[in-house]
Amino acid sequence: ISPSVIKDENGSISSRNGRRLGAAEFVEVVENAFRGLVGRTRLVALSDGLRKEFLDSMYDNPLCMLPSYNHQLPSGEERGTFLALDVGGSTFRVALIELSGRKSDGQECKILKRNTFKIDRTVKQLKGVLFFDWMAERIEEVLSGQAEGHDMSNAPLTMGLAWSFPIEQTSLRSGLLQAMGKGFLAAHGLLGQDLGDLIQESCSRRGLNVQLNAIVNDSSATLLSKAYIDPATRFALILGTGVNAAVHLPVHVFSPPKFGVRPPEWHNSAKHVIVNTELSMFGRGILPYTQWDELLLSVHPNPTFQPLEHFVSGGYLGEIVRLVLVEGIQTAGLFGGVVPPSLRERYSLETETLSHIESDLSPNLTKAQAIFLSRHPTNIPPSTTDLQTIRLIAAHVTHRAAGVVAAGVHALWQLRNEAESILPHESSHTLVAYNGSVLENYPGFKVTCQKHLDTLVEASGGKKGSIELMYAEESSLLGAAVAGAVASLDG
Ligand code: GLC
Repeated sequence: ISPSVIKDENGSISSRNGRRLGAAEFVEVVENAFRGLVGRTRLVALSDGLRKEFLDSMYDNPLCMLPSYNHQLPSGEERGTFLALDVGGSTFRVALIELSGRKSDGQECKILKRNTFKIDRTVKQLKGVLFFDWMAERIEEVLSGQAEGHDMSNAPLTMGLAWSFPIEQTSLRSGLLQAMGKGFLAAHGLLGQDLGDLIQESCSRRGLNVQLNAIVNDSSATLLSKAYIDPATRFALILGTGVNAAVHLPVHVFSPPKFGVRPPEWHNSAKHVIVNTELSMFGRGILPYTQWDELLLSVHPNPTFQPLEHFVSGGYLGEIVRLVLVEGIQTAGLFGGVVPPSLRERYSLETETLSHIESDLSPNLTKAQAIFLSRHPTNIPPSTTDLQTIRLIAAHVTHRAAGVVAAGVHALWQLRNEAESILPHESSHTLVAYNGSVLENYPGFKVTCQKHLDTLVEASGGKKGSIELMYAEESSLLGAAVAGAVASLDG
């Protein structure tokens, strides 16, 4: 909190001498709170702290740094038609995909058919098997009529699943269901049950001739999808509703307890494995908090579950901005001092709305105003100053988010370099395959994240541009198909 303001007994801010703040003074409060949070020194310290946490959880933490069982990267020779499933934070997508082998013309994968189903509040609240039955019904919808490229009367169609939630993998095609986050109740009453069996059983009940052959986290799917095309790929990053990263690591970095009492067979022979880091779960206590993060967490149903996600993901950026903004309305007379009714509701300001507001570069912000009003109707339309203040708050919040994400990626890069005995200055150009609405669509986010990465790499003795974020199109679906193909060859 800036020294010029104090909180009253209700927690709201007023100026020290009882005078309301002006918009400019409020902006100063915000700037003071965010200033320096992701400067070079803080970022280096954050990256170091995260690396230590990653290393600690290699021992026996069952929730993060999860070996995926994908100990083989695709050879690029995998071919065939596969049904890819992608369960994300807000959509379920089903696609029929043809893989035709690594080529130089970018035509390795063809999407023959693709359907997107919205996962709204009602679907998120389906408990247990009901959710998997809902999935099976959607798969049936896609397969009914013509399933191009596959004769449904023959062998079952191979499915691969990209799952945007934590999972304790027990084989390429199975894994134990864990708490899901993102408002989903499907794991309710089913924690520890086999996700593969649950989906397969729901499909069988509908008489679908399909065989679930692979389950991968969406971060691993992203890595697989890029590695199918470019064999040098070793990292993937997702930043949409949630955040995560996958990295290809030598198996020796894990301590035996990580694999439980019965280590999987491949563990003795494999050199590497794709690791689902569950990046969202790190950083407790070392992240660059402000008073608004504390406010967000004070009413969060599970405040300690995914600390890093609260700072960076599309599920939270809008809410942090809303909390700052509401304070500005109440204490500094933004919006004429009246909080628009819809903004009083938690999570009502979507990150996507901010991304539209930030993309309006016109001097009077007419487009930004129209977007705001279409989502938050109010009798007192926001003035240009109000909109500029929203943009400024959003810029601070997303700048910090890009820094935190960069620190996570840099920490993983350092960890892999150490595990492979690569000195930072010797490290070759590293591509990080990325996907997710925030990195893809939020104006300037990717560029800022790349700048933070450059700063971190230089600070650790590497060459500028050593880590490069590289877009991976349709990575969850394509990765699910590639995972299905790799698993079919695995037997
Ligand atoms: C959440 C999930 C994680 C997923 C990520 C991106 O953090 O826990 O499994 O990969 O979101 O969708």
